[in-house]
Amino acid sequence: MNKSVGILGIGSCLPEKVLTNFDLEKMVDTNNEWILQRTGISERRILDKESPAYEVGVQAAKRAIDSAGITAEDIDLIIVSTETPDYLAPSTACIIQREIGASKAAAFDVNAACTGFVYGITVAQQFILSGMYRYVLVVGCEALSKVIDWEDRNTCVLFGDGAGAAVLGTVEAGYGILKTYISADGSLGQSVTIPGCHMTEADIEKRIHENKKVIWMDGSEVFKFAVRAAAQAVQKVLDDYGMSMDDVKLIIPHQANIRIMQGIAKKLNVSIEKIYSIIHKYGNVSSASIPLALDEIVREKKISKGDNIVVVGFGGGLTWGATLIKWNIEI
Ligand code: UT7
Repeated sequence: MNKSVGILGIGSCLPEKVLTNFDLEKMVDTNNEWILQRTGISERRILDKESPAYEVGVQAAKRAIDSAGITAEDIDLIIVSTETPDYLAPSTACIIQREIGASKAAAFDVNAACTGFVYGITVAQQFILSGMYRYVLVVGCEALSKVIDWEDRNTCVLFGDGAGAAVLGTVEAGYGILKTYISADGSLGQSVTIPGCHMTEADIEKRIHENKKVIWMDGSEVFKFAVRAAAQAVQKVLDDYGMSMDDVKLIIPHQANIRIMQGIAKKLNVSIEKIYSIIHKYGNVSSASIPLALDEIVREKKISKGDNIVVVGFGGGLTWGATLIKWNIEI
């Protein structure tokens, strides 16, 4: 393949409101020690009740477009990964298209839950490789706070809100996305659910407030799956490209639990230092967590042009996937 697709610009945006573990102690039967030890989370950002998720998505998108050195008018396609859209219709991608003035762009949402950003950049890559589009904006835009039962301690301590975005386009051959892999197993899908237009009796029974369309998760099942699937996906993209873990500077996993990251490190036999974590300050921001981490890595100059990184996602669906990237931007 003589054409390569890479990230040309990246940006993110978080709500200002901080919700700490100590705040949660006043809301449900939990405590800072449990949350910190079992998840690694200290605090998370939460949107105000009246603020839609797309607002942070728009800011992240604008920052990514600026950092790519292009304008919204140049964007050919907007893909938003979200499992918490403000509306079922219009898509969040169409709302962001309107708000940033990307008048030429086609727009649609992708829902692969926490793996959404990996799915999004993989879809974007295909459109660019085919020659159909030049610039594709991928935004991970999430407001988990809006689908949480704030009286359910099993879930309310885990999640946060925010958005991260990337502009993808053609890059120097041999740089950018070297290998990408996405997968799913719908037969395990009932282990994490957020009801949409329909709820089954089983969905109703699982929830504390039966008729509330809130997130429910079998935490320990998802935990085991996450470690297994993430390690497999990272190994697969490396094997498929013919690269070893020693060639990789950083692994950027979906931020769900620090113990999942430790499990991935152990399974892959790599130092935990190689696994990038921002979970302590933002919690699990679903499909926004990878671009949020990537934006921080770029802003803090933790990678340079030519470094190999792997982003790896896992979550509802169940879905998982990984992308091996040779960083193509001079930072
Ligand atoms: O992003 C999508 C992918 N999601 C994930 O990857 C999440 C994967 N799962 C996890 O991260 C973990 O399973 C959790 C953090 C959700 C739970 O941790 P755990 O170590 O698996 O705890 P557990 O569910 O086995 O619960 C252990 C105990 C239970 O008490 P008993 O039954 O042993 O008396 C829970 O009721 O901890 C209790 N517990 C809590 N205690 C204080 C559960 N939540 C809390 C809480 N505060 N917030």
